[in-house]
Amino acid sequence: MAVNDPRAVSVVILKGGVGKSTTSMNLARQLAERGDTLFADLDPNGHATNGLGFEAAYQSDTNLGDVILEGDATPTDIIQPTEYGFDLLPSSNTLEDVEKDLAGAMQGSARVKSKIVDPLLGNEYSYIVFDCPAYPGMLNNNALVATGNVMIPIEPGSSAIGGYKRTMERLIQPAREYIDVDVLSVIPNKLSDRIDQQTEDRELLENLNTASFEVNPESGETLPEVVPNFARITAEGFDDIDAGRIKPPKPGIRHRSVLSRSLQHNQPLQDYDPESDQIEHYEELAEIVANGGVSR
Ligand SMILES: Nc1ncnc2c1ncn2[C@@H]1O[C@H](COP(=O)(O)OP(=O)(O)OP(=O)(O)O)[C@@H](O)[C@H]1O
Ligand SMILES: [Mg+2]
Repeated sequence: MAVNDPRAVSVVILKGGVGKSTTSMNLARQLAERGDTLFADLDPNGHATNGLGFEAAYQSDTNLGDVILEGDATPTDIIQPTEYGFDLLPSSNTLEDVEKDLAGAMQGSARVKSKIVDPLLGNEYSYIVFDCPAYPGMLNNNALVATGNVMIPIEPGSSAIGGYKRTMERLIQPAREYIDVDVLSVIPNKLSDRIDQQTEDRELLENLNTASFEVNPESGETLPEVVPNFARITAEGFDDIDAGRIKPPKPGIRHRSVLSRSLQHNQPLQDYDPESDQIEHYEELAEIVANGGVSR
């Protein structure tokens, strides 16, 4: 695809609480500065939908199931404008049932693609960002088929690295038997420690930045090539840090209480605290989506 083509992306990891909703919503917020953007909440827990203040839409009788299953609703019947530049495709308290019904439906993994992304991407919207559930299933499969692109947030700690591996093994690699799935980026989140000592932050960043295995078989890209610039530290960089030749950097995305507070106030970070030093990281994520990959 050419640079700045319309693009849809799924923010996925098969682990709860890592930052899928925070990352996807703030990514959508920054993408909205570049073009018309739809933020689609595919997680039955509705954290992003309710966090943005759309409790009524979450409980509405007309919901995603009516668009992608038997009902006669169109996406525009349920999409909500927000005050933050992007539109919201709300989650619904019926999504767990929708997930079960998709399992028995003809082309059950391609419904979101055919009913939502194909008609809207490149027409109504330049960008569509999906917030996905933390477990494998039909909703995640739909997101992968609909977007063909993923971004994977990951937090320090061994269980999160396990979550990343599980996501590759149980979700992305099986999907690749049928469709191309491009890992646009792997995004460290909730960093809080120094990295000139053997902390969990250091372990995560060193693993991501020095691993040699391929994440994208089509392009041959390895894991370090999909690390955003805000978290990129080369092997020489780590040597310089250890030898005291450079001041240890504070790579993103940092753990910031303002990020959890912003959603409690129904707002993306850009609107809640425009001065936050983390906004530039979400801007880089938006650039990665716009360009179809990390640019060094
Ligand atoms: N960088 C950060 N700094 C501080 N808090 C964060 C950060 N990222 C996420 N959080 C907080 O961590 C919690 C989990 O984040 P989030 O809801 O985005 O994760 P999730 O992967 O979508 O979780 P779930 O699987 O439950 O949907 C939330 O309370 C959120 O506010
Ligand atoms: Mg979530």
